[in-house]
Amino acid sequence: MDLFSPGAQEHWYEAYPILHETEPVVRIPGEGTNSSTDGFILTKYEDIAMVVKDPVRFPPRIHQAIDLLQQTDPDTAIFRQANAMLLSMVSLRPDNELYRAHRQELTDPWVGPGANRHTEMIKDCISRLLDACKQQNEIEFISSFARPLPQMVMANVLGFPESDIPQLAEWGAAQVAAFVYGQGHRNILSPEQATEQMKLLAGFKEYVHEKVLEKRRSPANDMISWLTQVHYKALDRKLTDLEVNGIVYAMVIGGLETTQYAIEEQAQLLCEHPGLFNSLKQDRSLVKNFVEEGMRLRSPTQGLSTRVTLHDEEFQGIKVPKGSLLHLRYGAGNVDPSEWIDPYQLNLSRKAVTRHLVFSAGPRVCPGAGISRLEQNLAWQGLLDHLQDISYCDENSFEHQPGIMLGTLRLNLNLHWTKKQS
Ligand code: HEM
Repeated sequence: MDLFSPGAQEHWYEAYPILHETEPVVRIPGEGTNSSTDGFILTKYEDIAMVVKDPVRFPPRIHQAIDLLQQTDPDTAIFRQANAMLLSMVSLRPDNELYRAHRQELTDPWVGPGANRHTEMIKDCISRLLDACKQQNEIEFISSFARPLPQMVMANVLGFPESDIPQLAEWGAAQVAAFVYGQGHRNILSPEQATEQMKLLAGFKEYVHEKVLEKRRSPANDMISWLTQVHYKALDRKLTDLEVNGIVYAMVIGGLETTQYAIEEQAQLLCEHPGLFNSLKQDRSLVKNFVEEGMRLRSPTQGLSTRVTLHDEEFQGIKVPKGSLLHLRYGAGNVDPSEWIDPYQLNLSRKAVTRHLVFSAGPRVCPGAGISRLEQNLAWQGLLDHLQDISYCDENSFEHQPGIMLGTLRLNLNLHWTKKQS
């Protein structure tokens, strides 16, 4: 069973019960951190949770690149070719201690626990998107709502004008190209694809650099302005332009498509569970659990090859040698029958509903989980305010994009507006 072959994304949720039953740890020969080591797919919740909670025993793969750059002369080509995010990691968060400080001091106030500050702005984005669809009874939901919402939100958080969103969206797509078009579990782009990606992203680097200079001179009320001014206590200094650029790069790479996929998969769950929309309308307190269960059942980030083994290890009785690359299959862990009762059922009263691995877990859990959850909850509250129900149109192929994210390409929906608006 190959989770990464062309078209495999249409069968992932058929594969998971078989893998859980027969092969919960899958060895991929010669696809480790180099061709003499192997990759291993972990599908069990307990294995994935144990790995992500212990970054000392299972260090992130990116640390190999950070260590290499730390020993490299900044005048060399390797250094010049590294993207701003990687370079900012070298100086701002090369180890676990600084990683935590970076999160707490620099991103939490904007996209983590502090994301509530954006509530009114997000509600405004939602109502503008709904106003634009108001006269329509049929829409392509992804291009009309699920995609533009995170784009608008992140542009406002960072301080980019909304008029730049079409260009920012192109750069965003170039940033995540490897996760969509890359080959195998390591998401390897061909040399041509990689060159094209670098060309596209050069424009992004310059754009952000100009914005950083502008906002350093005259700060406004946005994340980039704040980053140009903040005194970073962990290093007892201000951030350089390149470091701010690197943080912005990470926000764009993480903050757009993932939330889009979550919202469009939740729309599909509503269409597939008649009466659910109405139940949420009757009891809005259920929306929070609906969002969590929706993400658990259809995890946007299905898997990432992000951790390496420092020692010889064993998972589910399978020996995994030192130096192997672990592909953490969050999507499978989130429906593991050893962890979840009726794993494939949407259960709004499930206990400890947030313990899923959608955003990973442990000290390196996704820093944008706060803002993504807020966007999803407010999106459904807004849609429930204005609609009686949603349903599938006849023309839907439900085809997904390639790669390691669960992203439906198009989703045609009937919108049943409340009487006031129809
Ligand atoms: C439903 C939406 C999202 C999902 C499913 C998701 C999932 C993930 C996962 C699984 C990781 C890997 C964590 C690990 O290595 O243990 C991650 C990392 C990351 N996410 Fe998210 N994410 C989402 C939304 C966001 C948003 C909205 C942002 C930004 C505002 C963001 C920014 C990041 C960044 C910067 C990292 C890398 C952290 C690092 O440096 O190690 N994500 N995300």
